[in-house]
Amino acid sequence: MKNEKAFYVTTPIYYVNAPPHIGHAYSTIVADVQRRFHAMRGEQTFFLTGTDEHGDKIVQAAHAKGMSPKEYVDHISAIFRETWPLLGIEYDRFIRTTDPEHVTTVQRILALVHEKGEIAFREYEGLYCFGCERFYMERELKDGRCPDHGTEPVRLKERNYFFLMSRYQDWLIDHIRSHPGFITPERYRNEVLSFLKEPLDDLCISRPTTRLTWGIPLPFDTNFVTYVWFDALINYLTGIGWPTHSDFERFWGAAEHVIAKDILKPHAIYWPTMLKAIGLEPYRSLHVHGYWQIKEQKMSKSLGNVIRPAELLEKFGAEAVRYCLMREMAFGLDASYSEDAFRTRINADLANDLGNLVSRTLSMQEKYFKGVIPTPESLDSELQKACMALIPLWELDMEEFQTHKALQRVWEVIGLANRIIDYSAPWNLAKDETRQGELKNLMYSLLETLRIVSILIWPVMPQAAQRIQDAIGLAGKQDFRLNLAREWGLLCPSTGCIRIPSLFPRLEAAGSDCSRGDRPVAPTSGLTVGKDNAASKGERPVAPTSAASQKTKEIKEMDTEDKGNLITIDEFRRVDLRVAEIRNAERIPKADRLLKLTVVCPEERTIVAGIAEHFAPEELIGKKIIVVANLQPTKLRGITSEGMLLAAKDENGLLTLTTIHNPDIAPGARIG
Ligand code: ME8
Repeated sequence: MKNEKAFYVTTPIYYVNAPPHIGHAYSTIVADVQRRFHAMRGEQTFFLTGTDEHGDKIVQAAHAKGMSPKEYVDHISAIFRETWPLLGIEYDRFIRTTDPEHVTTVQRILALVHEKGEIAFREYEGLYCFGCERFYMERELKDGRCPDHGTEPVRLKERNYFFLMSRYQDWLIDHIRSHPGFITPERYRNEVLSFLKEPLDDLCISRPTTRLTWGIPLPFDTNFVTYVWFDALINYLTGIGWPTHSDFERFWGAAEHVIAKDILKPHAIYWPTMLKAIGLEPYRSLHVHGYWQIKEQKMSKSLGNVIRPAELLEKFGAEAVRYCLMREMAFGLDASYSEDAFRTRINADLANDLGNLVSRTLSMQEKYFKGVIPTPESLDSELQKACMALIPLWELDMEEFQTHKALQRVWEVIGLANRIIDYSAPWNLAKDETRQGELKNLMYSLLETLRIVSILIWPVMPQAAQRIQDAIGLAGKQDFRLNLAREWGLLCPSTGCIRIPSLFPRLEAAGSDCSRGDRPVAPTSGLTVGKDNAASKGERPVAPTSAASQKTKEIKEMDTEDKGNLITIDEFRRVDLRVAEIRNAERIPKADRLLKLTVVCPEERTIVAGIAEHFAPEELIGKKIIVVANLQPTKLRGITSEGMLLAAKDENGLLTLTTIHNPDIAPGARIG
């Protein structure tokens, strides 16, 4: 089934517990850049992205918003789906784990693996992290806490279904060893191999419906739903129509997954072993990148430092965002986002280096040759050599996902072209009748360099690439096939060049009056040729700034709401929670739902509680409960109530008091 002429790229399917952020944008742009890179080599490509919509986390997020899980996932999934085109991302399919087709695929695969005897039912006791939705082994914890969430996992005992993953340990080690490109970069391959030195456990793949219903029911036991990973990973098969669709036939052997290091283990261990159990070859490669941090800190909602793509789009425009993300992160390592660094990068690389090269070349073309491409006397030039040497190196970097290096190489040639203009001084050549040949050669080589640059930047900045080709006489004939970059001298002399608006106007410093949407020219809107010509030509802006602003607004509102659910530690500390012992409880005449409690905490006080329908007064006496002791007193049925007790209510409305069973805890003990 291996097909070297095909390329199937996937991103993780993102959890819909919050809108997309810069990290999600990065992975998805990497996949888009790779898709374009393979397409320009003439390969058939398929690009899958989507959203992961089942599990505890999603239910919790939906409840926090007062929405049903379905309403909630529809809403957030749509934000992901609509954000990607704003960033110039062109996927072939957007998959959702709630799609009926996916549910059927997961159930078919579960039934198949179960029939093969690869799934067992067992009682399991383990340490469970609710944040990760998985059990942890002691040795995986950091000082007894979840390495991701920093919380102490809870000991849980339950009967569950297990995929017999341990059977595949030796096979997996062999496979990784014999396929050097299976996990890249190397450091992650080594990390997985070192993890596999320890015995591999079987994988718990179910949750009882008593604990979780928002999942796909097991086809062989509907008292259980699938564990989140068994559901999520299979999206890569559903996406291309496993088992019979022609896309599956064409693309499975060419599957390459892009992920960040956080989900290395499920992709490097669970997924290949699952595929083996299904009877399929594993994917071709797993490409693992690092984390975007904000000022060396992890991004998190509670720190309020989450960077949303819509915000980046509004500030910089799609093309510049794509460029900066690809240029600033070395694939595999962590990187730090800073607005200033992005601005500096845009001004230096895009406005100065590339933007200037394009506008200087075009204005000289206009001036010296009335815009018509001259016939060179010779094709040999320093730029020709530099471009031809660049292509194979660039291609190798791109194959290895080292886009930052590939771009760096292109910028070396751009820098060289700018220097050549400086020292060849075409303005002097133009004045000298005897040097017209040199001038023609120089201008032709600059235009050819621009043509090759336009092809090489196309995967990262498709719109800028098109603009450049428009300018150098290829309007309506743009072509970004890599083979066209391997040849020098393809531009037809006598074709007319056109002056285009400047590709990337300079950005002002952050916070200055013209740094945002009120700038005279929107980022990458391409409205000027040089700064002095701001009002020229009225061309369409490239950056979808108004759509981005609308999205930013929507997402900001969601973020604000989210933060509205959070309180600071200081706010929490203001709540005085105490242990209280109930000394007396009695009904209140003509108030069916109220009980009057006399509690000690440690001083005696009265609390009126709406719990008469749930508890008989006598069963409460002597119980130690938890009360909010610093609530403003209030009068209920003429009785002053000085506090509130805590109780849990289940879905049926039944109350359970929070009680303390430790006889050593004295009434009045503070809880915190
Ligand atoms: O893990 N820097 O979803 P998720 C770079 N649903 N990339 C980042 C990032 C950061 N700071 N934060 C997140 C899930 N990402 C599962 C995946 S796949 C079958 C199921 C990116 O929403 C990166 O690609 O938590 C990471 O692997 C992914 O988002 C995790 O997304």
